[in-house]
Amino acid sequence: MKVLGIESSCDETGVAVYDTGLPGAAGLRAHAVYSQIALHAEYGGVVPELASRDHVRKLLPLVRQTLAEAGLGVGEIDGVAYTAGPGLVGALLVGAGVARSLAWALDVPAVAVHHMEGHLLAPLMEDDPPQPPFVALLVSGGHTQLVAVDGIGRYRLLGETLDDAAGEAFDKTAKLMGLPYPGGPQLAALAEQGRPGAYRFSRPMTDRPGLDFSFSGLKTQVLLAWQQSDRSDQTRADIARGFEDAVVETLAIKCQRALDAAGSDVIVVSGGVGANRRLRARLQEMAAARGGRACFPRPALCTDNGAMIAFAGALRLAAGQHDGPAVHVTPRWDM
Ligand code: KG4
Ligand code: ZN
Repeated sequence: MKVLGIESSCDETGVAVYDTGLPGAAGLRAHAVYSQIALHAEYGGVVPELASRDHVRKLLPLVRQTLAEAGLGVGEIDGVAYTAGPGLVGALLVGAGVARSLAWALDVPAVAVHHMEGHLLAPLMEDDPPQPPFVALLVSGGHTQLVAVDGIGRYRLLGETLDDAAGEAFDKTAKLMGLPYPGGPQLAALAEQGRPGAYRFSRPMTDRPGLDFSFSGLKTQVLLAWQQSDRSDQTRADIARGFEDAVVETLAIKCQRALDAAGSDVIVVSGGVGANRRLRARLQEMAAARGGRACFPRPALCTDNGAMIAFAGALRLAAGQHDGPAVHVTPRWDM
């Protein structure tokens, strides 16, 4: 089955074709992402109406481009998957409208996908994928969650952030140190030049039991350190490194606890912050020390993309699930 996947929940237009007839990473026949970052940069954040309009402009050309790269005619598609939420309502409606119309015109099933389930399952697209049960860490701009995955579609929330998501903490901290939007990857790049231990920030909520997170206090600590510093380039890099180490260490401690609680040694990581080099190394080291492994999608599939939606949709379609013809999205939606 060849499934077209469409992602448009925020500021990335993603399209992909996943082919269930091919093993592992080969199943991803083609994928393309158009990022709206430049469009929103001057506003310092995503402007919902501009996002919707840009999805309208980019989605159909990307569908054509992706099908051409996959070497497929549109008539060879067996199903269409699209992100139905959570996300920006207007942006979601563009993807849902195109997906449902295409499915109707081609007389193939369409299936709504939860954006975070897409992220969660993305590591399973790679070669040698882990099989449930395992523990998933979802770390994006909007979510930080630890989930026990008992099977595809069988998820138990173990812990989540009580305030800012990890990606949001990266973005806000970057902003207060004067880095351009979107700050997360820029802050991570700057941290590479920072000296470990030059600044030490707290590891929030690790001194008591539990699997919840709180990242909002960290940015206040960084703000104070930044205001009291000489604001040189080296200091900025040192603070960035101190912040990154605090987030990475906090995530690693909680992942370790979640594995203990779930009786597992496999941690599966996804979402934009999963692209962070230091987080990947730290979690691999933690999992290896207990004889298990940490699994990630390649960095390009950590951030928003159509491939994860095509893949999650293909699993649902293969299980016989699909939806009626109505165009319906769910901007706020628990997984
Ligand atoms: O999953 P994603 O693309 O979008 C959401 O669903 O939120 O995640 C975006 C988030 C942003 O907050 C971005 O700053 C963060 O992921 N991010 C990173 C890195 N790359 C992206 N944070 C830290 N280090 C990175 N290398
Ligand atoms: Zn996302």
